[in-house]
Amino acid sequence: MKKFEDIKTICNLGCGTMGFGTAIAFAKSGYEVNMFGRKDASIERAMKNIHFTLDVMKANDLLTEEEEKGLLSRIHGVTTLKDAAANADFVIESVAEDLDIKKAVYKEMESYLGPDVIFATDSSGLSPTEVASALDHPERFVVAHFWNPPHLIPLVEIVPGAKTNQETVDITWKLMEKIGKKPVALLKEAPGFVGNRLQFALLREALHCVKEGIATAEAVDTICKYSIGRRLGVTGPIETADFGGLDIFYNISAYLNADLADDKEASDVMKKCVDEGNLGAKTGTGLYNWTPEDIDRIKRTREEVLIEWLKKDASGQKF
Ligand SMILES: NC(=O)c1ccc[n+]([C@@H]2O[C@H](COP(=O)([O-])OP(=O)(O)OC[C@H]3O[C@@H](n4cnc5c(N)ncnc54)[C@H](O)[C@@H]3O)[C@@H](O)[C@H]2O)c1
Repeated sequence: MKKFEDIKTICNLGCGTMGFGTAIAFAKSGYEVNMFGRKDASIERAMKNIHFTLDVMKANDLLTEEEEKGLLSRIHGVTTLKDAAANADFVIESVAEDLDIKKAVYKEMESYLGPDVIFATDSSGLSPTEVASALDHPERFVVAHFWNPPHLIPLVEIVPGAKTNQETVDITWKLMEKIGKKPVALLKEAPGFVGNRLQFALLREALHCVKEGIATAEAVDTICKYSIGRRLGVTGPIETADFGGLDIFYNISAYLNADLADDKEASDVMKKCVDEGNLGAKTGTGLYNWTPEDIDRIKRTREEVLIEWLKKDASGQKF
């Protein structure tokens, strides 16, 4: 593998929701970034999103004018995979979450890039072993799962496939740390990795409480935001159990676990909404009704809170 110190140019595949954010993260840390989108219009849209994001970062003292200029000069929009591969030392890919598309993209990338270049996918949960099965060199393939919005959420889950070598994991980990992320390497792959397993376990129980008439959706969300939501940013669920006392947590789990949701199917509450075209904030109705003002207010608040956390991280107050 190329040495960590020799990585200078990043091949950033995809410039949608995640791709423009990963391009910012690498360019901010001094890397040249070949940002691939399939059409000029996609690159233009991504550049608009980049400018908007950088404005928010400047307004919150996360970036200076001078840094912004340098950052922008390092992002190069390209519309072919071949151009994206030019001089590339590391690939981060955020194209559509579709196994066949990812396999085809990597197969082509392998014709442009030697086996010493790491291929990292931002997939939310596809099996790295499965994606890498299309490759002649699966040992250089790994998951680097960013979280949306990637410029504000620090975590990157690093997940090896069955054939990924340790060097690939180690170099990817170092690179993520270098660009200011909080990398965490998993011991092995599992559907949803760890982050989405936790997120969906919580969502399953939340929807179960609503469906069983235990509480309204508003009450469930309020309970979460004003209790475990506050605490989880400081102590994770396992630390929380240790701090609460394992005798107490054990006794609670002894009578509670049997009553918790354990459905194996996808949520029928969500299925009904989806079938009716009620997709949530983006259609104005989901499990709640959303006005454009509500959406703006929540997005702004979320951004402000996440920026406060980032500032705490930057000042060394890491948890
Ligand atoms: N959106 C999220 O919250 C989120 C979070 C973490 C990870 N991810 C993962 O990131 C990846 C991208 O998701 P997104 O939300 O940015 O999607 P998106 O739809 O916003 O962007 C997808 C990108 O893929 C490109 N693309 C689509 N089909 C292609 C093809 N056949 N060949 C080459 N490029 C193609 C598009 O041009 C676009 O640039 C997915 O694997 C997704 O699971 C998404």
